[in-house]
Amino acid sequence: MKNEYKDIINAAIEGRKNAYAPYSKFKVGAAAMLIDGTIIKGCNIENASYGLSCCAERNTIFSLISLGYDPKKIKLFCVVGDTKKPISPCGACRQVLAEFLNPKTPIILSNLKGDIKETNLEELIPYTFLEIENV
Ligand code: THU
Repeated sequence: MKNEYKDIINAAIEGRKNAYAPYSKFKVGAAAMLIDGTIIKGCNIENASYGLSCCAERNTIFSLISLGYDPKKIKLFCVVGDTKKPISPCGACRQVLAEFLNPKTPIILSNLKGDIKETNLEELIPYTFLEIENV
C-alpha cells in the first residue's frame, strides 16, 4: 500500500478516537490530505436531539475550511468505522463532499480490520446536484 494511504488511514483512526457518539456508540473518523501532505482529521459528533448529529466526513471538511485550508488542494480523503466491510458514507456526506472534492479524487473507505475500498465521488454520487452546473 502507498505510504500516503497508510498515513491518511492512521489519521482517520486517530480522528475517530475523538468521536462523540454516546447515542449510537458508532464512532467514525475521517481525514483529508492536501497536496503538501498536511492532514486534517475529524470525527462524528452527536447530540441529544439526534437529528443534529453530524458525521465525521462533514465535520472534517467543515473543519478544514474553517481553519483556512483550501479544499481545492485535497488530494486524498479517507473514512474509517468499525464496520464488517469498509464503511459507506451516508448520502448527505456524499453531497457535501461533492461540493468540494474533485469527482476523481481518491476516497479510501476502511474499517478497523484494515479492509480497504478505494473509490471516488464519481462512483459514490453520480449525476450530482451542483448549483454551478444546474442553475
Ligand atoms: N456516521 C458518520 O460519521 N459517517 C458515516 O459514514 C456513517 C455514519 C455517524 C453518524 C452518527 O453519529 C453515527 O455514525 C451513527 O449513524
